[in-house]
Amino acid sequence: MAASERDILRSELRWSVVVGGAVTVIVAAVLYAALALHVNPPSNIETIDPKTLHLSDEFTEANLGTKVEAGGQVTTRIVTTQFAFDPPCVIVPANEPVTLRLTSPDVIHGILVAGTNVNTMIIPGYVSQVHTVFTKTGDLLMPCHEFCGLGHSQMWATVRVVPRESFRPDAEGRVACEKP
Ligand code: CUA
Repeated sequence: MAASERDILRSELRWSVVVGGAVTVIVAAVLYAALALHVNPPSNIETIDPKTLHLSDEFTEANLGTKVEAGGQVTTRIVTTQFAFDPPCVIVPANEPVTLRLTSPDVIHGILVAGTNVNTMIIPGYVSQVHTVFTKTGDLLMPCHEFCGLGHSQMWATVRVVPRESFRPDAEGRVACEKP
């Protein structure tokens, strides 16, 4: 028996309710992630010459790692490269705003910090910047999560989150993991 026009209309209405509901759930999930969990796509567009990172002001070897800036802002600078992080361990204070700034001299890498909202790609020619607050203390794993070559699976670093009282910058405002 052929469906009547009325049946077709009802079927279409039913499906529009299902699809409308699904769209509402997805949009609500996106808004919840963005507004409540602070999970947002990276939006920092800042260029840098990947060929001269080691000569630039900011990403020279001596300026990498964590530094308390003049205004009190804690900034951690990291160079990601095939197949290591420089430095391989960084210290950050808990429950305080921290800015991570990362760049790459070679290929695209990606990082996340386990158990936090830190997750970004690192693209040669750009500075990736993430603002976050680490709430749990301890050693967090920061692996490269973008396939970057044969050593990709060995590419990871440690983010050591310490209580504010144990976060002791030196005279220059720098804090580094002790050398093994
Ligand atoms: Cu760097 Cu994968």
